[in-house]
Amino acid sequence: MTLVEAAAQVRGNAYAPYSNFKVGAAIRAGSGQVYLGVNVENAAYPEGTCAEAGAIAAMVAAGETRIAEVAVIADAPRPVPPCGGCRQKLAEFGAGDVRVTLATTRGARQETTVAELLPGAFTDRDMA
Ligand code: THU
Repeated sequence: MTLVEAAAQVRGNAYAPYSNFKVGAAIRAGSGQVYLGVNVENAAYPEGTCAEAGAIAAMVAAGETRIAEVAVIADAPRPVPPCGGCRQKLAEFGAGDVRVTLATTRGARQETTVAELLPGAFTDRDMA
């Protein structure tokens, strides 16, 4: 199964009763293991979390901190652009050249990278 297929499959478990916009994310970590996430909304709207955040949390909970590849998918008119906060979260664990595939359930695909998604990201190196 490809990373996009894994993201598409887990997307079915997204909890998005308020936006009705289900998102799935799959991260291949340094070990090769794949971690999955979905958006989890809340009646208190700001408490909702993104699919990317869920996948990152699963990866870190498993003891891994290096992202090797990412896929995100939604039923959208264009490959779903990660929100600003998720771009920062991806940059925390993914090097600039890490490949990110943005996908739609309608068949569109866009290949990008962590650095393209967040040029000039603030990182720990800025606190040296
Ligand atoms: N969402 C994600 O989970 N990831 C993205 O990359 C874009 C947006 C979610 C958040 C919210 O539950 C819904 O999509 C609508 O914004």
